[in-house]
Amino acid sequence: MRSPTPSVFIRGLGAYKPERRLTNEDLSRIVETSDEWIRSRSGICERRVAAPEETTADLGAQAAEVALRDAGVGREEIDLVIVATASAESTVPSTACLLQRKLGLRAGIPAFDISAACSGFLYLLQIANHMLRAGDYRNALVVASEKLSRIVDWQDRTTCVLFGDGAGAAVVSKCDVPHVGILGNVLGADGTKGDLLAVAPRQAPAPEPVEGLPVGTHRIVMNGKEVFKNAVRVMSQACREVLAKCGVGIEQVALIIPHQANMRIIDAIVDELGVERARVKVNLERYGNTSAASIPIALEEAYREGLVKEGDYVLLVAFGGGFTWAATLLKWFQPRTIS
Ligand code: UT7
Repeated sequence: MRSPTPSVFIRGLGAYKPERRLTNEDLSRIVETSDEWIRSRSGICERRVAAPEETTADLGAQAAEVALRDAGVGREEIDLVIVATASAESTVPSTACLLQRKLGLRAGIPAFDISAACSGFLYLLQIANHMLRAGDYRNALVVASEKLSRIVDWQDRTTCVLFGDGAGAAVVSKCDVPHVGILGNVLGADGTKGDLLAVAPRQAPAPEPVEGLPVGTHRIVMNGKEVFKNAVRVMSQACREVLAKCGVGIEQVALIIPHQANMRIIDAIVDELGVERARVKVNLERYGNTSAASIPIALEEAYREGLVKEGDYVLLVAFGGGFTWAATLLKWFQPRTIS
């Protein structure tokens, strides 16, 4: 009989941010907005935009290469690849299958995408957690990749100032050390609020492209105020739930990494939870909201900066379209040096 697997943990991390920077000043030449409005309402100063030829799978592959190197895991050792994205160029083949081919991962391993908007990476962590514990898999490649610039409506100032492109990846592995890595997870959704943040078909005729920015067949539509209120309430609640489930107090958490959508949302959650700002990772000023990729990009940055150390409790929390939400508590386990 197989012995139960004690733990599933993040063994390596990678991120990729496309080179092109689009500043608030740049946006003020495209729509009627200003650096002052965007900064004060969202905290965002600039975001990245992928090159025309770069696909969602390309961004994910770049992040995955870094994560594989960081984990010290060979391509042949990956036995599951899962991807979260809301901006894939194709639904079939999935971005996970495209990545499998692009990275030269073993043929025959399972590969699939999930759609959970900004909560996608945390949904994937829970899927990997269960599949690794229950099945015959040892190492999963978990990737969140977004080329949101292709579904942003560059004529809609209420949304186009918020989003950016990027990808984050993790190698998630089993180990025999008890009680480390993914300690607990809370996932949720409320489909009755789906219309408040959606990717909808674009009405014809499509506008002319501006400043080399793509025009997709679909566009993001959002009721910002309603999303804002729900995001604060639901993310605060999800944090409390996952902490209670794991028997860990908020005062024991070394670092909180919230979804990077809006500085005012993060400030409100910080106030709700009563934690000091120094324990919260924020990088949205440089990347904007990269949907599913936002948490792994911020986690990778925190990790490279040495903000997460062996034994630390790290709390991840997300909220997005669907509505979907998730919170994950990690006990950082690092049987390696940072590459
Ligand atoms: O990833 C999923 C999660 N997504 C989010 O969490 C986003 C949640 N929502 C938000 O972050 C905020 O609601 C926004 C940043 C989108 C908007 O901030 P707000 O404080 O809720 O502003 P508002 O929508 O109430 O707009 C205030 C004013 C309006 O003008 P009036 O009606 O007061 O005359 C807007 O038309 O600001 C105007 N406005 C702008 N002005 C300059 C809206 N967008 C812009 C803009 N530049 N880009």
